[in-house]
Amino acid sequence: MVAELIPSYLGFGNDIYMMGICGMGGLGKTTLASAIYYEYSDLFEGSSFIANVRERSEKDELHELQQQLLDEILEGSSWIIITTRDEHVLVDNGMLKIYKPNGLEDDDASKLFCSKAIKKVQPEEGYMQLSQKVVGYASGLPLALVTLGSFLAGRNIDEWKSALENF
Ligand SMILES: Nc1ncnc2c1ncn2[C@@H]1O[C@H](COP(=O)(O)OP(=O)(O)O)[C@@H](O)[C@H]1O
Ligand SMILES: [Mg+2]
Repeated sequence: MVAELIPSYLGFGNDIYMMGICGMGGLGKTTLASAIYYEYSDLFEGSSFIANVRERSEKDELHELQQQLLDEILEGSSWIIITTRDEHVLVDNGMLKIYKPNGLEDDDASKLFCSKAIKKVQPEEGYMQLSQKVVGYASGLPLALVTLGSFLAGRNIDEWKSALENF
């Protein structure tokens, strides 16, 4: 996904150096931004990854965030990626490129859920079918897959069924 995103949005050959990633909580915005950050930050003299801005601004820590950003990027980086649940934040700041992730495809959703929920290489019979139902319920939302997977890990079939009934 990162490989497909970068050339079409940010590039060294065009003038686009800022982009936004927008969508509901748990969609994987921060994960995507950090994947881009770790893959490309070596290309810049300075780089900074500032996480949890919403939570930290609620604690009046914006001044420290600003200081961290300036300290780390003054060396001369250019690309800026902002993730937010609120598209207005991006539009109001003149962001030309906005990316809205779709969530995970079925295959990847299944792998993520099973990596958390099913520890064995060959899960017992009934679990696979129930897994599909949970994955369908999560609609590709990574946070839901991780949370439900961790919740169901180590529980027996009856517990899975009753959890599904409550969803
Ligand atoms: N592509 C992915 N593959 C595996 N796990 C993912 C993926 N995207 C997100 N996650 C997991 O889903 C959860 C929510 O992701 P996060 O990036 O924090 O969402 P957001 O920033 O949109 O609120 C995290 O536990 C993260 O590790
Ligand atoms: Mg986030």
